[in-house]
Amino acid sequence: MFLGIDIGSGGTKVILLNKEGQLVEASEISYSFDVPKEGWSEHDPNEWWTATLKALTKLFEYNDPAKVEAIGVTGQMHSSVLLDSQGAVIRKAILWNDQRTEVECKEVLNHIGEDKYRTLTMNTLFPGFTLPKIMWLKKNEPEHYERISTVFMPKDFINYKLTGVVATDVTDASGTGIFDVYNREWNSNIIEELELNPEWFPPLYESVEVIGKVKHAVAKAIGLKEGIPVIAGAADNAAAAIGNGVFKEDKGLISIGTSGVVLVPIKNRPDKEFLTKTNSSLHIFCHALPNTWYAMGVTLTAGESLKWFRHAFEIEDDFQSLIMKAKAVGPGSGGLIFTPYLSGERTPHNDSNARGVFYGMNLTHRKGHFIRSVMEGVSYSLKDCHELIKNIATVDSFVITGGAVKSELWSQILADVLGVSLKKSAQFEGPAIGAAILAGIGVDHWKTPDEATEKVMNKDLITPNEEHCDLYEESFTKYQDIYKKLSAK
Ligand code: XUL
Repeated sequence: MFLGIDIGSGGTKVILLNKEGQLVEASEISYSFDVPKEGWSEHDPNEWWTATLKALTKLFEYNDPAKVEAIGVTGQMHSSVLLDSQGAVIRKAILWNDQRTEVECKEVLNHIGEDKYRTLTMNTLFPGFTLPKIMWLKKNEPEHYERISTVFMPKDFINYKLTGVVATDVTDASGTGIFDVYNREWNSNIIEELELNPEWFPPLYESVEVIGKVKHAVAKAIGLKEGIPVIAGAADNAAAAIGNGVFKEDKGLISIGTSGVVLVPIKNRPDKEFLTKTNSSLHIFCHALPNTWYAMGVTLTAGESLKWFRHAFEIEDDFQSLIMKAKAVGPGSGGLIFTPYLSGERTPHNDSNARGVFYGMNLTHRKGHFIRSVMEGVSYSLKDCHELIKNIATVDSFVITGGAVKSELWSQILADVLGVSLKKSAQFEGPAIGAAILAGIGVDHWKTPDEATEKVMNKDLITPNEEHCDLYEESFTKYQDIYKKLSAK
């Protein structure tokens, strides 16, 4: 069996995958990230490790840990885990959806030159990326900056706790802002220009490469056999794509988890010419198999918008009852439109000052209208990503995954808003399953991800309802107007 671990923003999931690619068991420990100030988000990496151990204890209550043959870890991207020379965590990780570094992004782009930066990395710089957080620390927390010995991501920290090895992989390095996505290596140009210490950035691996073995004490505590290999693993979106068989340019992935993404593998190595056709709010990153890349649009607050709504208004209803209330309201939410920019937005605006709006409230609106408009607003935001992706990729079909698509209603809304048929993934634990598949590839059990997913993918097709599509097309124009009219940009 292969063990997959996913360090998510709302919880740590662990899964066991058998050698036929079937999910044997999953368990999760939930938590929330801290929001110490408007636009900031942080999490203590040590809590991720504690949650991993707890989730594994649950997982192995009725499963034999001695049957695990390899481990793959995945996790949220960009979130900066900083270690000192003793291997201790210096401060809480600043997360992927944190918006404090708008100024630092501008400073870096001005210093290096916007066009040059984009050619060096294949991306522009977003506040959630790792690089501007390092620059922010230099200015605002020099006592922490001085102690930095390692900069890596959440899944790398878990790999370090498991094996004692400091490493990262090309998919997560892609989201640091210090990485040459074209050549799959750290960008020495940026490191020198910004006077960063090259030793902070760990040795790089392809996602499927083995970085080391589980340490004796950890293996004993979990009940694993001695010497179990751990692969480098991958960023959560790349791993979710692998878990859903998305690694060739014919098939894309749409996910609604805490964030939302539209991801398509791209055909050739992305070069300068490709960039001229690509909107800069799309991310161009290395994929989890050697010599593969993908393009991705990101909605920062997707599933998290509904979670926020429940908390903000102290709603006791569970997720299912919320969906029932939304279902009772027709498409278009009686004219109520929500923009999900609760923590700024990446695609298509790259604007950390964008904010959420409920537009068009009237006396007939009830709770159900608000809930449905949140689901529709997140779907409009993914349509914005999809429109940009369409300019650079021809994808035959999309698989949808993530917690929110467990709801039939939300999946249908998404198909109606996008106007395309969607294949609903049976793999809600997509990133963790992807990580386990990568582990299976890493120890030569499978050659390609579809060997693992072929037999187990049970995908229902969701076809758009033409009438709803027309209505949503009109609402989408209004949705886009809201940002245009209110933006300070
Ligand atoms: C992608 C991104 C998010 C996180 C969420 O660029 O920031 O999707 O990976 O886990």
